[in-house]
Amino acid sequence: MKVLVVGGGGREHALAWQMRRDDTSVELLAAPGNPGIAELGRCVRVAASDITGLLALAKRERADLTVVGPEAPLDAGIVDLFRAEGLAVFGPTRAAARIETSKSWAKALMLRAGVPTASARVFTNPAAARAEARRLGAPVVVKASGLAAGKGVVVAQGVAEADDAIAMMLEGNAFGAAGAEVLVEEYMAGEELSIFAVTDGTHVLPMLAAQDHKRAGEGDTGPNTGGMGAYAPVSLATDSLVQSVVDRIFLPTLAAMRADGCQFTGLLYAGLMLTDAGPKVVEFNCRFGDPETEAILPLLASPLLGALHTVAAGGSIEHAPPFRWAAGAAVTTVVAAEGYPGKARSSDEITLPPVPAGVTVFHAGTTRDASGRLVTAGGRVLAVSATAPTFAEAQAASRAHAAAVSFAGRQFRRDIGWREAARLERHA
Ligand code: AMP
Ligand code: GLY
Repeated sequence: MKVLVVGGGGREHALAWQMRRDDTSVELLAAPGNPGIAELGRCVRVAASDITGLLALAKRERADLTVVGPEAPLDAGIVDLFRAEGLAVFGPTRAAARIETSKSWAKALMLRAGVPTASARVFTNPAAARAEARRLGAPVVVKASGLAAGKGVVVAQGVAEADDAIAMMLEGNAFGAAGAEVLVEEYMAGEELSIFAVTDGTHVLPMLAAQDHKRAGEGDTGPNTGGMGAYAPVSLATDSLVQSVVDRIFLPTLAAMRADGCQFTGLLYAGLMLTDAGPKVVEFNCRFGDPETEAILPLLASPLLGALHTVAAGGSIEHAPPFRWAAGAAVTTVVAAEGYPGKARSSDEITLPPVPAGVTVFHAGTTRDASGRLVTAGGRVLAVSATAPTFAEAQAASRAHAAAVSFAGRQFRRDIGWREAARLERHA
């Protein structure tokens, strides 16, 4: 089987690595890929956003399956385009991708479907938005409706901060069209959890729950990022909690999407807040999360490729076996470039020491320069994943190897999984 992976980050490296683990005979192609993926397959210089270029590539190469990593090509309609040509592609259509790309649409769907989530109202008028923030009182959450690369959410601790966020999004045009509408949303207190499910639009195969670390600084301080690390499993995510998320969140959301004529196929990512009143949706994403994927897949003890191919080909996963997971834990530490999540420095040479057993280094923002040296080329440079029999060992191994890779201006959090560590200590 020939598989085209769209994207070039740590998530795509992990997906490529997993498909090769599933089936050593799989022929991997990536666009644009990265130097890590290049060790597993062939990388072709087509941008992830160039969906017509990707279609031409998939046809020329006779790819049996295309797996789409990032949201941008999904939002651009890659799945619609490939399907119209009869190609098997894993991901949602453009209309179904709105579950991520339009927070106002997603919120309306959840409320209609009775899916637990924070209450919110949508505004285009700044004065009305400010009045709503006052009515709700701080803390209050202000969100740009469209895609804003993870930067369109402000959890305002006071109404003045909410006013600033509203002004930045609606009046300052900070996110262009993505910020033309804002949501003013009820604040939810609790711990966050990411649960992914592979779905054919009706049935789901949930994956192991993970916890992301979105803030740049240790102790969850500093600016929001794409994610500085993740771990799995999360002891809060008991089997019964995951089952209730399937029954009360995934299945009703999918049913509402079918009823709306935009069946969702692919990977549905539920970003949850574990509130005192139970799990509630913070956001949905229409694709695998990054860096959670790099933590989850190393624990997968059954194949992934079959389910992806079935869904991509329009089949049913009703009778597909559930995913099985290895015992133990995985911790992923993201090693980022100086300046990230702001303007990150780049083109620094990377030195990768030998990798100990149980550790996998996924490339996220790397490239080869003209002389073939491995150099930094993005905010998040590497994702260092470690698996071990216990959480503490996985955490120590991930941290130690993140400290061992080197490049100028390297930064990483040494506390990935700190909430789990504290929980395990309390229960010890
Ligand atoms: P999002 O891009 O929607 O995932 O939001 C980014 C981050 O903002 C989330 O991971 C949460 O930490 C926080 N957040 C978003 N919405 C809420 C909410 N209603 N209550 C509390 N925190 C929130
Ligand atoms: N880790 C958060 C995301 O993938 O959106």
